[in-house]
Amino acid sequence: METHAAAPRRLIIAITGATGAVYGVRLLQTLRKLGGVESHLLISSAGWLNIQHELQLSRDDVHPLADVVHSVRDVGASIASGSFATDGMIIAPCSMRTLASVAHGLSDNLITRAADVTLKERRRLVLMVRETPFNLAHLRNMTAVTEMGGVIFPPLPAFYNRPATIDQMVDDTVARVLDLFALGPALAPAWQGLNCPAQ
Ligand SMILES: Cc1cc2nc3c(=O)[nH]c(=O)nc-3n(C[C@H](O)[C@H](O)[C@H](O)COP(=O)(O)O)c2cc1C
Repeated sequence: METHAAAPRRLIIAITGATGAVYGVRLLQTLRKLGGVESHLLISSAGWLNIQHELQLSRDDVHPLADVVHSVRDVGASIASGSFATDGMIIAPCSMRTLASVAHGLSDNLITRAADVTLKERRRLVLMVRETPFNLAHLRNMTAVTEMGGVIFPPLPAFYNRPATIDQMVDDTVARVLDLFALGPALAPAWQGLNCPAQ
């Protein structure tokens, strides 16, 4: 009988030009710490601007955090095809430009092509969209991606865990995003309730 080797766990991480580059970088660092997941990294030109401006990191700092680094222009890369199995893709942060391109199926670079493939193969696609306030185009594009099965996950901090630092806020959000992929035991602690006395 023919047997198939278990497919390796793989996640595509894309960093685009919205503010919040730290989310993409922290995702890579967390995956590295967890182990067992092959990370494929894509960074747009505007993503690089923000990584340099917000985190003062260079390519030499960020590239080694991933297992495979793809050029955004390389639409012939492995992840451009549905035949290359992955667990899905996270765009963190996701600009309104990239959101619009995904919502309209443009596949105009390897980030939006890989997102298109993720949706067509019915794999998990999470967009950590960042803009404020939203205009109607943004809202309609988020609706379109949701209708196609994508998850819109704006990186909005929760305060009920009483985070003491920005690092903690980022870690909490990254844990919630990764838990959507069920890579192992839950990373985010389960809420235990407020223990309010019964009325
Ligand atoms: C410092 C800085 C912050 C930005 N923040 C945002 C943002 O939060 N959301 C957004 O949609 N675009 C933001 N932009 C604009 C995008 O970078 C721009 O639209 C770019 O074309 C996005 O391209 P990409 O999707 O290929 O990365 C920002 C640009 C700069 C330089």
